[in-house]
Amino acid sequence: MTTSNKTLHLAKITALGLACSILTYFLYFEPPSPGCPSSLAVLEDAEALSDEKPIVLLWFWPLGVKFDFKACSTYYNIDSCVLTDNRSLYHEAEGVIFFHKDIDPHLQNMPPGPRPAFQKWIWYNVESPTNTAKKPGLDNLFNLTLTYRRDADITVRNELIVKKTEMKDDFVLPKKDKLVCWIVSNNDPATGTAVRVRYYQELAKHIKIHLFGMAFTGSRLKYEDYYSTIASCKFYLSFENSVHRDYITEKVNGPLVAGTVPVVLGPPRENYEQFIPTDSFIHINDFPDPKSLADFLLHLDKNDEVYMRYFRWRKFYEATPHLLSIYNEFIQPVCLACDHMARDRNYHVVHDLYKWYSS
Ligand SMILES: *[C@@H]1O[C@H](CO)[C@@H](O)[C@H](O)[C@H]1NC(C)=O
Ligand SMILES: *[C@@H]1O[C@H](CO)[C@@H](O)[C@H](O)[C@H]1NC(C)=O
Repeated sequence: MTTSNKTLHLAKITALGLACSILTYFLYFEPPSPGCPSSLAVLEDAEALSDEKPIVLLWFWPLGVKFDFKACSTYYNIDSCVLTDNRSLYHEAEGVIFFHKDIDPHLQNMPPGPRPAFQKWIWYNVESPTNTAKKPGLDNLFNLTLTYRRDADITVRNELIVKKTEMKDDFVLPKKDKLVCWIVSNNDPATGTAVRVRYYQELAKHIKIHLFGMAFTGSRLKYEDYYSTIASCKFYLSFENSVHRDYITEKVNGPLVAGTVPVVLGPPRENYEQFIPTDSFIHINDFPDPKSLADFLLHLDKNDEVYMRYFRWRKFYEATPHLLSIYNEFIQPVCLACDHMARDRNYHVVHDLYKWYSS
């Protein structure tokens, strides 16, 4: 099997588990995010709990997209709560998940009446602050946050996994026939994309960029072509739609999985380095202007030995393919909420939701 085939194959068969990787733990010797306690803590907590699985109610299907709750055990080996969409179970539910986008601006579609004292409301949102509508009345309403932020109660990210020592470094660079690629579907300036579009336009004056996706080509890249397309390029533009702390998305995970070097536009380099190795990516801020970046990429194109240094991290870490398509993107966060509810019984109120989120 060629490596790109293998990557694809992996993408299909890998159990996409271990969402809470221990990468940051080992890299920085800090406690992992609150959503990812050590297994010891899990054990201790479990002893204090009853055997009964908590009921976790998904109040809205995110954007109306339904999925089978069995996916939690299939993909993430999570089976520690009873997930349901049946609102008749509201009064018994220990956790209720609310998908931010689906909340009515006047909160008309939220549960009426008093809340059971034991119940926790979970605010679920993985859009950046730029793309998070400010709805009044959400302060002092939720008990847990479920977002990409590292300081969320439940953190949702594509994290690298530390390889077991016995795993050998069998990385073979996929065949490359393009230098720089960019898949971009959203070009709506209202979502904050103007910064990245401006950078792209400058960069494109100095280096050829192969474009894919709705925004520029007018046709969608098929999901089954996603990883192989990225793999065929030496560099991939991992340009976030808006720049915010910790907002480092699957746009970086894709190239790391595929065997391609991400060129990132987003929060500062130091923020990336909290999640992925220093030498696994190129940051646009490493260069004074787009032309200097283009010159550097052209230099790497001629210098294999230096280019290959961007893959040395693979000896120690493994990137896990993320689930593609809108039908899958809500699965992991909901499963993580289920997992969290089964082991964390702390009392907590989220006071200034937007203030925290935009900080
Ligand atoms: C929802 O839960 C109630 C109470 O347990 C049950 O009677 C009802 O059949 C359930 N509805 C569905 C669609 O499963
Ligand atoms: C959850 O938050 C609500 C609203 O602030 C609060 O009244 C309630 O006591 C909290 N419950 C738990 C279990 O933390």
